[in-house]
Amino acid sequence: MHGARRPELNAGAVVPPIYQTSTYHFPEAFSEAAGHGGTYLYTRGQNPTQEVVAELLRGLEQGESCKVYASGMGALAAVLFSLAESGDEIVALDHLYGGMVDLLRWVGPRYGLNVRWVTAEEAKHPEAVVGEKTRIVFLESPTNPLLWVHDLAHWSKVADAAGALVVVDNTFATPINQRPLELGADLVVHSATKYLGGHADLIAGAVVGPRNLLDRIDPMETLGSVLDPFAAFLLARGLRTLALRVGRANENGTRLAAALENHPKVERVYYPGFGDPVQDEIARRQMSGRGGMVTLVIRGGAGAPLRFLRKLRLVHVAASLGSVESLASVPGQTSHRHLSAAALAARGIVPGLVRLSLGIEEPDDLVRDLTEALDAV
Ligand SMILES: Cc1ncc(COP(=O)(O)O)c(C=O)c1O
Repeated sequence: MHGARRPELNAGAVVPPIYQTSTYHFPEAFSEAAGHGGTYLYTRGQNPTQEVVAELLRGLEQGESCKVYASGMGALAAVLFSLAESGDEIVALDHLYGGMVDLLRWVGPRYGLNVRWVTAEEAKHPEAVVGEKTRIVFLESPTNPLLWVHDLAHWSKVADAAGALVVVDNTFATPINQRPLELGADLVVHSATKYLGGHADLIAGAVVGPRNLLDRIDPMETLGSVLDPFAAFLLARGLRTLALRVGRANENGTRLAAALENHPKVERVYYPGFGDPVQDEIARRQMSGRGGMVTLVIRGGAGAPLRFLRKLRLVHVAASLGSVESLASVPGQTSHRHLSAAALAARGIVPGLVRLSLGIEEPDDLVRDLTEALDAV
């Protein structure tokens, strides 16, 4: 909340202003010593409002450096295009976000990358997966939508020994609940569109890590994935309440997972570490809170999710996650809609699956809304 204060540059303003400008006046010849109160040239490269969010995110993830992008996909693309070379093996752990799966499928064959898709079962044994040719391991934890946790410290150790980089998408956990760099990961990527912004009103992305690696990652300047100053301002504003929002989402997630587990219409509840001692032990080691994402399998066949969603009165039926208002979606029709029926089934994304992103509402109100909607299925 208190990071990136620069009132001396901003007429004493407590809230960093929006520098909504594409270009900058410079009295002398432009100097490469741009940014941080020096000379700015062009907002595709540097902008003071972007710098404020980069500084806040760097601090939250405890990294040395941060670059911000127009979206989470922009951040992931920047990492992939900058660090992977033709002939490299890229290890992609199962349950990556669908957009990242699409990017790897699209880019891999065109640029000579060998993408190795690793199942949830194989992911338990990183030493059997990472090899000499592995350049980057991409993983998310907890995963979408089944909320499995991968052992980040173990993956980082094995990858490090093989000279490979581990890139963790920390969108679901947020740095309030989990800081992958402290567990040995090389880079953290975010869809800041989600919890970091927190109000479903912006699209943004970020990469955080050590300076030597960040220096090798293309800035938004080259790929053109520019975070607009207004979106950067909204993101900085959202970050001020991140800890409070995520704290409440953690409480709501834990409460709702327990409350819905015994509902007769619920076949199964997925929540990080829930009902699985091995997963619970990993989550305990690497997460300080379990988050606000809860996934349900609803009984009653393929039509059950739709009947459930239609009865919700408080929870919005919408894609995306991490906002102050609770959202419900059917992953097979939203985040994973590009996958074939066979690919969905192989990932455990069964027809009755509904993903909940719990916001900051009163827990009793959420229990009532979700229970009443389930009763009506
Ligand atoms: C885990 C995860 N990573 C990355 C992305 C992509 O982020 P964006 O939509 O900001 O491009 C998403 C979006 O849903 C996501 O859920």
